[in-house]
Order: sequence, then C-alpha cells, then structure tokens
Amino acid sequence: MIISKLPNVGTTIFTRMSQLAAETGALNLSQGFPDFDGPQALRDAVGRHIASGHNQYSPMTGLPALRTQVAAKIARSYGVHVDADTEVTITPGATQAIFCAIQAVIHAGDEVIVFDPCYDSYEPSVELAGGRCVHVQLGLDDFSIDWQKLTDALTPRTRMIILNTPHNPSGALISRAELDQLAALIADRDIYLISDEVYEHLVYDGVPHVSVLSHPELYHRAFVVSSFGKTYHVTGWKTGYVVAPPALTAELRKVHQYVSFCGVTPLQYALADYMAASPEHVEELPGFYQAKRDLFCDLLKPSRFTFTPVAGTYFQLVDYAHIRPDLNDVDMAVWLTREHGVATIPVSVFYQTPPEGQRLVRLCFAKREETLREAAEKLCVI
Ligand SMILES: Cc1ncc(COP(=O)(O)O)c(C=O)c1O
Repeated sequence: MIISKLPNVGTTIFTRMSQLAAETGALNLSQGFPDFDGPQALRDAVGRHIASGHNQYSPMTGLPALRTQVAAKIARSYGVHVDADTEVTITPGATQAIFCAIQAVIHAGDEVIVFDPCYDSYEPSVELAGGRCVHVQLGLDDFSIDWQKLTDALTPRTRMIILNTPHNPSGALISRAELDQLAALIADRDIYLISDEVYEHLVYDGVPHVSVLSHPELYHRAFVVSSFGKTYHVTGWKTGYVVAPPALTAELRKVHQYVSFCGVTPLQYALADYMAASPEHVEELPGFYQAKRDLFCDLLKPSRFTFTPVAGTYFQLVDYAHIRPDLNDVDMAVWLTREHGVATIPVSVFYQTPPEGQRLVRLCFAKREETLREAAEKLCVI
C-alpha cells in the first residue's frame, strides 16, 4: 500500500478545466497562459542557440549572461542593485524556485502563513518540507491584508510568510505602506519571506509594482521569485528566477542543485540575448496588457456579471451572483464551459475554507483580441 505524502492532492482544477474546455470545444479562459506567441526574435534565438551547440548543462546557478540581465532589469525597474553572482539563481520555472526556497528553510513542525485565496503550489511544497500552512484570509472586498488576522496567526513556530503581488487570482497589489507595516510586525521575529512576484510587470493605471527587492528591511529575509514565462509570453518554457541575499541564496542553491541542477540551456541563452537587445519589452508590458484588460472589461459591461477592473495580473474576477446564485462556483464554472462555451476557474479552489456565499470566477485575458471578443459575446447573452 502506498502511504501518500500528499494525500489531499488530486488533479488540479487548472488541468480539469483545461481538459473540459478541450472536450467541449469551449474557449479556454481558465488556465493562465497566453493564446499568442512570445516575441519572434526571442523564439528565433532559441533555434539559433540549439543550432550553434548550446545544448549541454548550464552552470547550476544559471547562465551568467542571463543572471547579469536579470540584475540589470532589477536596477532599471526598482533602482536596486543585486549581485548577479551571489543573489540571482535561474530555475526551471517560478514554481520550482518556490519549492526550493521552502525546502531550504522550512523544518518539520514549522508554520508558514499563506494568504487565501492563494496559488496552489505553496501548500504541497510546505507539506513536503514537513511544515504546516496557516491560512489567513484576505479582505473579501479588496483582497488586502487583514492585519488583525495576520497578527493573530503569528506563533513562535511561524517560520515563513508567503506574499504574492500582483496577486493571483484577485489582481490586488501590495502597497509600500503595507510592506512597511509587515516589516514592523515581524521586525523582532525569525521569519523568512517568499515574495511571489511573477506578475511584477503586469500592473495597470500607472500604479507601480512595489517589489520586496526595494524594501531593504524585508529583502534581507526574503526570496523574491519571478517568471520569464509570464513576462515574455512563454509559460511553456518553465524558466524563472529567484533573488535572495547571499546567505539565503547559498541555502536555496543547495536544494536547487539536487532538484534540477540547472535550467534549460538554449532557453537561457535566448532570454539573455533578448533581454539585452529589447530592454523596452518590460516597460511596454503594462500598456500591452492594460489594453487587453480595458477591451475585455468594456466588452463585458453589458453582461450581467459584476466586476471591478483588476489592478494587476492577467486575470479578471467576475461576480455571477445576479446570474446563477443557486450554483456554487465549481458548478458555475462547469456550467459556463458546457452550456456557454467559456472555461473559467472557480475562486473557491484557492481557499482552505471558501467564504460563505462568494460567487466569483476567474477569467484569463492574456488572449488575442478575437478570443476576447468571442468570449465576451458568449458571456453577454447569459
Ligand atoms: C502566483 C503564481 N506563482 C507562480 C506561478 C508559476 O510560474 P512558473 O510557470 O514560472 O512556474 C504562477 C503561474 O500561474 C502563478 O500564478
């Protein structure tokens, strides 16, 4: 008999909804990936590097040229200097970076605070390290940190807090004032942070992303994680990075070298070339996705869904309480896919204990204009 180490884990809702979308021919606005390609020059560079023989293991820490580009981008974006050799590690995806950071510092019996609704990889990673997730709900209206709940959740066993800004699934941003408040709250405690910032360049309405990298009091205890997949429209490349102070980076690399050893070599060469040649890509990203958000929200205005345009990420939450209040959100997502041809993600799956009566589904707007128009047309007749 197998004694599962993750008895509560089954097939994720993302896989299930994508499968249902494929089976029924529905438009897939569920899983978070673009239905368009990354930049041509970036894709061409991969072929070039494979043809020119960049096909063997890269350094365990990541290709130096790519780590240098990451440090340069951080300097441009946040005015912060990080050392490419001792603070930046390239990983096969942000998910692997998060896993390695957790394994590096979480011991049996440690508690890790996560904010619900939260990304699904955190809890299994904590459990495999022998730790336990303590779930703290974000505010129901604006998905901001509830400071009383967070304070109440702290115990002598709390070893880590996982932040996610911009936040999946709500699109909410953490402000500098909130980072200050967090720094004050944990100043005298032995607590690490993971700051999951994979959507760092998807922020709208001129509001800047506030990175933990730019908050020295928090950065000295943090692993800051990002994903080239999100930033360059290539989620299937599963290439990300983690930035942490040298002592934490050293511990993270001890794990990373035995989980995967290194990332995929030609992809790292291609990303390094593209980042050097096109630094403007990240500056143009907010405008690029804001146009999609605005178009999608305009198209959905005549519908019976209610929503507030998101501040960040490429997800839009919509409330369906006026349409099918009788359905819970999992049933609603299935109904929308089967009966109306649009696959979505129910928000309850991001919670340990979903709030009573919440009626929200998540739509991904990282889609071509024609996909967004077709989806909105279907959603407006419900
Ligand atoms: C909040 C969050 N963190 C991490 C990831 C994973 O990124 P990657 O594909 O680079 O592993 C995702 C992907 O959806 C995400 O939404």
